[in-house]
Amino acid sequence: MKKLVLMLSTVVLSLAINMQAQAGNVETLQSEYQAAGAGNFSASNGEKMWVKNNLDKKSGKQRNCQTCHGKVLTQSGKHARTGKVIEPLARSVNSERLTDIKFMKKWLKRNCKWTIGRECSAQEKGDFLEYLKGQ
Ligand code: HEC
Repeated sequence: MKKLVLMLSTVVLSLAINMQAQAGNVETLQSEYQAAGAGNFSASNGEKMWVKNNLDKKSGKQRNCQTCHGKVLTQSGKHARTGKVIEPLARSVNSERLTDIKFMKKWLKRNCKWTIGRECSAQEKGDFLEYLKGQ
């Protein structure tokens, strides 16, 4: 009996942990960045970085976040290299946006590297999300 209770509570506990991992919304990720040393997040800083040009030395071309996501966040973008359509990032038209922590982390990492030429800091990532959240 004791064993069964122990087994059941292990199942319940792992279910709870699992649910928490899946719930992962943008605020959870932002708290994670704050725990990693970031301060308050600023949508206007996020917006400034979003449109700021960064010179890619190899191609000699300027890159910013709009290069793929387009100028209007409620509209689709187009991948600069593959030409693939990217669904709008704005949550006001795309409720699936900023709902998956793993996905956000993966793309923030890749896109910072490609666009800015380095990984972004916890503060920068949080600022980007603060800006995107309001769209
Ligand atoms: C080379 C093209 C490209 C550039 C430039 C780019 N992105 Fe992206 N981004 C993508 C693709 C592709 C995806 C994943 C597909 C999708 O979300 O539809 C994505 C997804 C994202 C997501 C995930 C959205 C979600 O719903 O979770 C975030 C956040 C993001 N990008 C932020 C940025 C930021 C910040 C920049 C500028 C530093 C940037 N992107 C520049 C191609 C790009």
